[in-house]
Amino acid sequence: MISSLASILRGAAHALRNPRRLATLAAEPAGEREEAYQREATALFGGVPRSVPFEGFLNSRGDALSAFTFLDDTSTVADLLLLRALVSRYGARTMLEIGTFRGESALAVASAGANVVTLSLPDEVMLARNAEPSWVEAHRTLSAGHPNITHAFGDSAVLDTNPYREWADILFIDGDHSRGAIEVDTRRFWDTRSRRVGAVVWHDAFFSPLVPRWEVLAGIAAGVPAVYRSQIVHVSNTLCLAWLPDGDSMPSVSRSYVPRVVYSVNVAPVLGWTSSKQPTAELVPPIPREAPATSR
Ligand SMILES: C[S@@+](CC[C@H](N)C(=O)[O-])C[C@H]1O[C@@H](n2cnc3c(N)ncnc32)[C@H](O)[C@@H]1O
Repeated sequence: MISSLASILRGAAHALRNPRRLATLAAEPAGEREEAYQREATALFGGVPRSVPFEGFLNSRGDALSAFTFLDDTSTVADLLLLRALVSRYGARTMLEIGTFRGESALAVASAGANVVTLSLPDEVMLARNAEPSWVEAHRTLSAGHPNITHAFGDSAVLDTNPYREWADILFIDGDHSRGAIEVDTRRFWDTRSRRVGAVVWHDAFFSPLVPRWEVLAGIAAGVPAVYRSQIVHVSNTLCLAWLPDGDSMPSVSRSYVPRVVYSVNVAPVLGWTSSKQPTAELVPPIPREAPATSR
């Protein structure tokens, strides 16, 4: 009971930031919807896509992020390191991203040497859809002014994708995470993949590295051309599903609470960094939080 209430509250909080979801939230009980997504994703993928090892993407010298906020709604550190690793693994020169937000993922990839075009809804559209003002304000706080980052504005559901045809060595899909939007983004942007690399990464296909997010998985499964479906992999330790040029040759690992590898992490504030935008208001309304889990 507590967990279903928490899930409704989480959905409502998410919908405040992604107003398109409000309509679907009211229509059907959350549990039934999740089960339907699970059935759909499982049928199309034949189960949860296999996991390939995250550590296989890292080089022995390791890597670092130049800026990370540890705040909501960005990618995890592992997700960002994965994107950076794809740049060096495939010699990727370009990334097309759906979903800019603060620009954390765009910056992570641009500072690895690729040119990034990152798309988000215009601020005024988000505000008109009642998105939380400080969430809108946070957009581009890390990516603004970076020479390798171009900001594009529009709705991925209708944006003309022709200018980007076969342009993107990496396509990163991280915009609207509703089932229908993921399918549409996947279908509409598929041809933006370059012939040379053409890697695709979908963010938030998992809630956490061990917990699938069925709604997103169902949208991906429905949107991806059928011949590619069996080649989609989950990159372990991340929230990402991916199609990768050499994905079929990567070994499988089991998803488990038991770690295969542990990493050292060094964290320090970036000295001298100041935001070009100061928050004008306290976060309103407060985001409901899940009741602390007592047992797992
Ligand atoms: C989860 S955030 C992206 C986080 C970012 N990629 C990162 O890793 O830091 C989602 C972003 O998608 C954008 N977005 C949502 N729906 C969209 C749509 N239909 N078209 C374009 N952008 C959209 C939002 O404006 C927001 O910037």
